[in-house]
Order: sequence, then C-alpha cells, then structure tokens
Amino acid sequence: MDKIMIKGGIPLTGSIKISGAKNAALPLMAACILTDKTLELINIPDLSDIESMSELLSQLGVALGCKESSQGRVMCLSANNLSSTTAPYDVVRKMRASVLVLGPLVARAGEAHVSLPGGCAIGTRPIDLHLKGLEALGAEITLEDGYVHAKALKGLVGTTFTFPTVSVTGTENLLMAATLAEGQTRLVNAAREPEIGNLAQCLNAMGAKITGIGTDTLLIEGVESLNGASHSVVADRIEAGTYAMAAALTGGKVQLKGARLDLIPTVASLLQQAGVILKEEEDGLVVDAPLEHLQGVDVMTEPFPGFATDLQAQWMALMSVANGASMITETIFENRFMHVPELCRMGANITVHGSSALVRGVSQLKGAPVMATDLRASVSLVLAGLVADGETVINRVYHLDRGYESVEEKLRACGADIQRIR
Ligand code: UD1
Repeated sequence: MDKIMIKGGIPLTGSIKISGAKNAALPLMAACILTDKTLELINIPDLSDIESMSELLSQLGVALGCKESSQGRVMCLSANNLSSTTAPYDVVRKMRASVLVLGPLVARAGEAHVSLPGGCAIGTRPIDLHLKGLEALGAEITLEDGYVHAKALKGLVGTTFTFPTVSVTGTENLLMAATLAEGQTRLVNAAREPEIGNLAQCLNAMGAKITGIGTDTLLIEGVESLNGASHSVVADRIEAGTYAMAAALTGGKVQLKGARLDLIPTVASLLQQAGVILKEEEDGLVVDAPLEHLQGVDVMTEPFPGFATDLQAQWMALMSVANGASMITETIFENRFMHVPELCRMGANITVHGSSALVRGVSQLKGAPVMATDLRASVSLVLAGLVADGETVINRVYHLDRGYESVEEKLRACGADIQRIR
C-alpha cells in the first residue's frame, strides 16, 4: 500500500493549478443519464472517485471516454444505450456519491436499484432525504436486501419538497430528477454549494428550466427530454482552501491558479483574521503568510456559504501551530475528528468536547508515522507534515487519491520535500 513521506519545515513558494472540483464532477457525470445525447465535461480531475463513477456509469451502459485539451481533461459521456438500472453494492460501498445515479435513473428509465451506502468513517450519513424527496415526486420506494428500489414507470410529477436538513447530494439528486418530471418542482431549503450551481447551469445548457440558482429555493419546470451540452467543471474550492492553508501553515507565498474568492468567502475571511494576506488576481489568488503572526481563530462548520466541513481537518492542522487557542465546532457530521489523535501524535495540543475541539497552538509539530482515516483527514496530516520538524510518514494514502489530483507534484513544485513510497 502506498505511503507518503514528508520532510517538513520548508515554506511553500510557487504556483499551484487548482483542478476541477470532484464534488462538481461527480453529479455532472451522473447527469449524462438524463439524456440519450452526448454530454461533454471539460476540466474533469484525474481522481480515483472519478474512476469509480466512470466504472459505475459503464456498468449502466454509458459509453465514456477522455481526452486531454488545453482546458484540461475532457470527458464525453453518452447514455444512448442504457442497459442496466442497478448500482451494485461493490461500487456504492467504495464511493457514497454513487447514490447520485438514483434520481437520474428513475427520471429517465422509470426505475433504479441502488445499494444503500451504509455508514462511513465520518458518521452514519443516511440518504432518507433523497428517498423522501423522490417519493414526493411520485416514485414508489421499497428497501429490500440492502438495496433501494425506486419506481416511477409513468414518470415523476412535480411537487414542493422542503429539506428538513440541508443536503448537498440530496439536493443534486432531486434537482436532476425534477428536470424530467411533469410540471413544476420547488426544492425549499436546498443546498447552495457552488457545485449545485455548476450542475444547474449544465442542466440548463442541456435544456432544463431551472431558476433560483445560488439561492435556497430552486424552481424546476419539467421538460419532456434533455439534450447534450458542453460544460466546464468549476474550480475545486476545497482544494484551493487546502493549499491556501498549506501556504499559511508553512509561512510561504503561493499563487493558486484558478482559485476564486467568491467560492471560499468564509474561509478567506477567517484566514485573513488569522493574519494571512490574500490577494485576488485575474487568474487566481495569491496567499502570503508570515508564519510568526498566525493567530488562533474559532471556526464552526456550516452549509455554504459557511465554513465547509471538508476544510475542518485542514483548519485544525493550521491552528495547531497558531498563536493562542482556537475552538473548532463540527455541526455537519457527528464523527469527524478522526484526525485529532493523529495530529496529537505529531505534538498538537487538542482536546475534544463533544462536537467541539479546543486547539491550543504549539510552537513546533514533530514528524511521526500517522494513519489517514478519510479523505480530508489524510490531507490534514500532509499539511501537518509540511510544517513538522523531521520526517512524517502517512499510511493509507488511497484516501488522498480519491480527492486530490497530483498532490505530491503540486507541493513539490512549491519546494516541499514530499514523496510517495510504493
Ligand atoms: C456532500 C459532499 C461532502 C461534504 C458534504 C457536506 C459530495 C459528493 N460530497 O456529501 O464532501 O462533506 O456534502 O458539505 O458532494 N443527511 C441526512 N439525510 C440525508 C442526507 C443527509 O440526515 O438523506 C445529513 C448527513 O448525515 C449530514 C448532513 O445531512 O449530517 C449533510 O450531509 P450532505 O450534505 O447530504 O452530505 P453529502 O451530500 O453526502
């Protein structure tokens, strides 16, 4: 199993190109099921989660292929010959986002059979809201043998559905399903993450009629069928936030090409409060961070535009070496502090009280062998390794490969001493 070895203490300086967002690319790929025409997606990142979604779509009968272009990797998908409506356990178990094929399959084929994803490292993560929403749209839902069976043989019918809790993939699933429903659908208390706006724009380019994009109420006027389209995947705000924190943590200066302040409003303002200088340029963001001035700042995770839970572990690594203390409160997932014991093994001073962690900054972290437990936890250990004294070896890096494209190359180009051991 691959490991990553880092010798810490080098300030990052240079330029990093931000990739297309994994969490935008996955629902966009699933959207190809809604049409028998070709969907072209530009700026698709090269990640193992994208491979898993490609495998799943191939099993459903989708023809897909990739080519390189000056705008990044381009993927063409055609669901002209859908041959299956089943997302099997083996694929869904590997990647929860597989559940994104549920809404499009019911809408286009009238049925779907999707394995229940079960819990994961960061919490129980139910999909009850996806199912309640589809039921409200007229699908008949049954659960049997660990599978969700959804049927709407006469098609879905528009409705008003209010999410009791904001759900990102729940919103995406219902948004996609509603594009082909009869009449109007209102999704109230919808998630407002930029990846949802990116999906809605793509669906509109395919002929859907969606308004309210960027707000918490999406209005969808159903259409008979959708067309193909060519669409660009938005820049990965989580990757941008991660590298901004990496620059801040090492006291470096890094240009993040393609990063946008409007995609990370709360992160940007908290970084500024912590003493980091951020400058927006025409083609990205420059992060300039005098390490000795880094201040502890409290953070609470919230749905967009609040602070993303997917950046909580990285913020904790940053706060581990800040002056003073920081209270980090996780409100989205119930078990998302798996990185705490690992950071403590590197000398961080963190105590967890329920859903809050109190981080008291220390003057120096120490390299150690550590273990990645999930995608964002693993990158927080990379960040800690970059600033730690001595050598850090991170085990189970397959988590990292799910969501960070060329992480070692990108960091090495900014001077980091990081390598993969196979
Ligand atoms: C998505 C992101 C993930 C991110 C998360 C929160 C993708 C592929 N993944 O995950 O990276 O960490 O948003 O920003 O985009 N919930 C229910 N019932 C449901 C659905 C969700 O109770 O049917 C709860 C969840 O347990 C969680 C909260 O709602 O506590 C938010 O989860 P949700 O937004 O659905 O996360 P995902 O879409 O799975």
